[in-house]
Amino acid sequence: MMRAGGVLKLTVLVSIFFLAVFLAFELLENHTNLNMGKVFARYAPGETVPTRPLRHKCGLSKSCPEDHFAFKITSGAASVVGPKMCFQDNVLMSGVKNNIGRGINIALINGKTGEMTKTDSFDMWSGDVTLLIKYLKEIEDGSIVMMATFDDPATKLNEEARNLIADLGSTNISILGFRDNWVFVGGKGIKTKSPFEQHIKNSADTNKYEGWPEVLEMEGCIPMKRE
Ligand SMILES: *[C@@H]1O[C@H](CO)[C@@H](O)[C@H](O)[C@H]1NC(C)=O
Ligand SMILES: *[C@@H]1O[C@H](CO)[C@@H](O)[C@H](O)[C@H]1NC(C)=O
Repeated sequence: MMRAGGVLKLTVLVSIFFLAVFLAFELLENHTNLNMGKVFARYAPGETVPTRPLRHKCGLSKSCPEDHFAFKITSGAASVVGPKMCFQDNVLMSGVKNNIGRGINIALINGKTGEMTKTDSFDMWSGDVTLLIKYLKEIEDGSIVMMATFDDPATKLNEEARNLIADLGSTNISILGFRDNWVFVGGKGIKTKSPFEQHIKNSADTNKYEGWPEVLEMEGCIPMKRE
């Protein structure tokens, strides 16, 4: 009895030992390969060290032409994660910056200099739409206007507010509804419809989250306004 138990223990110990040695070699080998690979890459004649992939402003997939501003804009995720706006590599609004809110989030930018003028959010679930209307009317001509939704952007929206946003180049604003997601970049005094707009309806059939549609993300390059 004692003897059988002893043999078993020994077998287990030996197995563990070999497993440990095997793993150690594996790790060492992978590690060594990695280092040797780097060393060879550095010294191999005629071969260049692989460079880091180029990072574009705001993390865009490609760089913008010289006389353009880069932007990336993300809508909120349900009522949990707020929207995010990046312009020329500066995060203008985000949950981390703590300057976002339920409803419609807005960042205004000088279309010539690219400098941010201000950021605000308007609660369209329980807020006062007249504040939004006053704000929209006061936007200076030539401003770039970035807008992103969070949670519910539409319950308090009325015809007047929708028309003022349509004047900035929006198409989707006319049918923006309860808990829809929407991201938009337009301009005050713009004569055309903006190409920078995405809209997804809140619909039980297609929603990603229970009660909310999926997050929208949009990036692009805005031509600078000439002096
Ligand atoms: C060693 O590298 C190979 C190939 O990438 C991998 O499959 C294996 O899991 C690695 N082993 C260890 C111990 O990391
Ligand atoms: C939003 O507007 C664009 C045109 O700018 C249109 O192509 C698109 O179908 C609209 N989306 C929704 C969901 O209304």
